[in-house]
Amino acid sequence: MNFFTDVARPALFRLGGGDAEHAHEWTLNRLAQLPAPALAALRRRYAFSAPVDVFGVRFPNRVGLAAGVDKNGVALQAWPALGFGFVEVGTVTAKPQPGNDKPRLFRAKDSEGIVNRMGFNNAGAAALAERLAELGPPGSAKRPVPIGVSLGKSKVTPLEDAVEDYLASYRLLQSYADYIAVNVSSPNTPGLRTLQDKDSIGALLQALAGPVPVLVKIAPDLTEPAIAELLEVCLAHGAAGIIATNTTLSRDGLAPADRHLASEAGGLSGAPLTARSRQVVRFVHTESGGRLPIIGVGGIMSADDASRLLDAGASLVQLYTGFIYRGPDLVKAVARGARPVRTAAAR
Ligand SMILES: Cc1cc2nc3c(=O)[nH]c(=O)nc-3n(C[C@H](O)[C@H](O)[C@H](O)COP(=O)(O)O)c2cc1C
Repeated sequence: MNFFTDVARPALFRLGGGDAEHAHEWTLNRLAQLPAPALAALRRRYAFSAPVDVFGVRFPNRVGLAAGVDKNGVALQAWPALGFGFVEVGTVTAKPQPGNDKPRLFRAKDSEGIVNRMGFNNAGAAALAERLAELGPPGSAKRPVPIGVSLGKSKVTPLEDAVEDYLASYRLLQSYADYIAVNVSSPNTPGLRTLQDKDSIGALLQALAGPVPVLVKIAPDLTEPAIAELLEVCLAHGAAGIIATNTTLSRDGLAPADRHLASEAGGLSGAPLTARSRQVVRFVHTESGGRLPIIGVGGIMSADDASRLLDAGASLVQLYTGFIYRGPDLVKAVARGARPVRTAAAR
C-alpha cells in the first residue's frame, strides 16, 4: 500500500466537495503551519542530497517545485522538507490581482492531468518581497534551498507597457531571488505569449540584465523556428537559461473520461504533456549547442520521465502535476534517480 496514493490523495481529492482549488489552498495552509518537529520528520524521510551547480547557483538536488504551486511563498519551509532542491515562487505580478473567475482549476484524473486558467491570482510583487525579506537574502540559514522568482505581467497593464511592469516586480524582488524566471508563456493572460516574439523578449531581457540569473519560461506550443529565434535572442542578451515548458493549449492525450475538459479554456499539464516537453527540451539543447542550461518541466510523473528529460538535455527538473498525483515519494524518487548528466560544462 502506498500512503499517498491510497490514503492521502483520495482524502485530498474529496476536500471541498472535490473542488481542486479548495484542496490546493487547504493543503498550502497546512504546509505553511507545520511545526518544527513535523518539518524535521519530513526532512528525515524525504530530503535527499545530490548537489549540483547550474548557472552559478548550487542546488542541493536537481528537483524543484514548479511555479504556480506556491505563488505567494507561504510554505517555504515545507518544500525543502518534502525533498525539493529548489522552489520557484510566483508567478507574481507588479499589481496584486484576483485571477480569473472560479472555477478555474480542473483535475483530469484518468489522464493524470490538470486544466487550469488561474490567470496569475497573486498577492503582488511587494507582498512576496516582504515575505522573502523575512528569510533574508539568498544563502541565509532560513533558505536551505535556492528560491527562483517567477515574474508575469499584470493583467491591467497593456502589452506595450509590459517591460515596465516586469521591471517594477524585478526591482522589488531581485535581491531576494537566486534566479528570476520570466514567464511569457502562460496561456491565461491575454496576449502574454506574444512576448515570446524576438523583439519583445529582447527588450525584456535587456531591461532585466543584472547580476541575478534570468531564465525564460517558454510554451510547448511554439514552433521550432520560433523557439530557434527566441534562443538566439536569449543567447545574445545573456539569459542564464530556459525553462521548458509551461502548460499546453493542446488537448491531445486526454483520456475518454476527461474529454469534457477539452472545451474548458486554459492550459493542460501532467501526463499528456510529457512527450512534448521532452521534445522541446531536446530541441532547445541541440539548437543552443548546450550553451543555455535548461530546467525541464512538464509531465514528469515518474523518476523515469525525469531521467529522460535530463537525458534530453535538462540540467534541473521541476514538478507540479506529478506532485499532485504522486506526492512527495515522487520528489525523492526523482532526486535519487536523477542521473548525473553526461558532459557539457555549462550544465
Ligand atoms: C494550477 C497551475 C498553476 C500554474 N501556475 C503557473 C504560474 O503561475 N507560473 C508558471 O510559470 N507556471 C505555472 N504553471 C505551470 C507549471 O509550472 C508547469 O510549467 C506545467 O504545469 C507543466 O508541468 P507539470 O506537467 O509537472 O504540471 C501552473 C500549472 C498549474 C497546473
